[in-house]
Amino acid sequence: MSAPVVEAKGLKRVYEIKRGLFKEPAHLQAVGGVSFSIEPGKTLAVVGESGCGKSTLARMITLIEKPTEGTLTLDGHDAVNQPAGMAKTLRRTVQFVFQNPYGSLNPRKKVGSILEEPLAINTSLSSTDRTERARAMMTKVGLRPEHYNRYPHMFSGGQRQRIAIARALMLSPKLVVADEPVSALDVSIQAQVLNLLADLQAEMGLAYLFISHDLGVVRHIAHDVLVMYLGNVVEQGPKERIYARPLHPYTQALLSSTPGISGQKRERIVLKGELPSPLNPPTGCVFSTRCPYVTDRCRTERPALRELDGRKVACHYAEKFLEAPTA
Ligand SMILES: Nc1ncnc2c1ncn2[C@@H]1O[C@H](COP(=O)(O)OP(=O)(O)OP(=O)(O)O)[C@@H](O)[C@H]1O
Ligand code: SF4
Ligand SMILES: [Mg+2]
Repeated sequence: MSAPVVEAKGLKRVYEIKRGLFKEPAHLQAVGGVSFSIEPGKTLAVVGESGCGKSTLARMITLIEKPTEGTLTLDGHDAVNQPAGMAKTLRRTVQFVFQNPYGSLNPRKKVGSILEEPLAINTSLSSTDRTERARAMMTKVGLRPEHYNRYPHMFSGGQRQRIAIARALMLSPKLVVADEPVSALDVSIQAQVLNLLADLQAEMGLAYLFISHDLGVVRHIAHDVLVMYLGNVVEQGPKERIYARPLHPYTQALLSSTPGISGQKRERIVLKGELPSPLNPPTGCVFSTRCPYVTDRCRTERPALRELDGRKVACHYAEKFLEAPTA
């Protein structure tokens, strides 16, 4: 086992929402205590519906936002209370790949200068060396030499995402946080970009925090999975465990609505009701307003995230799903 590239303990992010001059601000807990670690060469997939806190978590891990509570260690260094002089090193350790590669690429710059910019800002490499590295990275991500002088708008969505990935790798990060990196792409292109990410990981030993609302997308790329609901972790553990036998009713519902999960004959579970507002989360279990198995106990007592069957799960009745025969 290698030392983890990233270690998060009890990460929490609360936003203060102003409600006018004479009202106290409301507090919205976007992420409510998330812990994980990722080793080199491994991928943790964070999955959940819109608004469950995935991007907020990504912004904390990429040092864009500070957690309200909790600790974060990047490559062995405290990333919340950064030791003096470490800011630059820490920022280079982790890089971000966004969902919309067009929005994140400067339309007025050619691919070559987009890739060379991080080197120009952060290193003392000569212009010739920068160009050489940019061209080498282009080959690595499957772009052609003639693309060096083209602008982002001249590329397809998939190729633009290759450019964004190339740029993220220019400073040799150890961790890449990818927030829905293939969600905007056609299904046929998604697989190509996922394969590229897997190849780069194998070659460079990268750790990935891969964010998606879709358990189908992360199936092949994830080693571990963390399922979030309303800012809370409901299930977390090795991918094989979770896909073979999800123990949290929310994970079960997500999986049942994921087409193409082979070997699954489960009936589709349709969740009742709307996702509650994170400004007014349910008391007791966060999933209690939509859970098909809810009891009175669930409405008053919040289930702890606890170890069971080689993963962690936050449901009072998880044992029952362990006993039930798989469909
Ligand atoms: N800067 C902010 N100020 C106030 N509330 C915020 C802020 N950023 C996010 N939120 C709220 O925090 C919650 C989590 O948002 P977040 O963007 O992290 O979710 P997400 O899982 O990434 O959703 P999506 O799948 O739609 O991208 C949401 O209720 C959102 O409205
Ligand atoms: S604790 Fe109760 S409401 Fe929550 S997931 Fe388990 S059965 Fe459903
Ligand atoms: Mg998001």
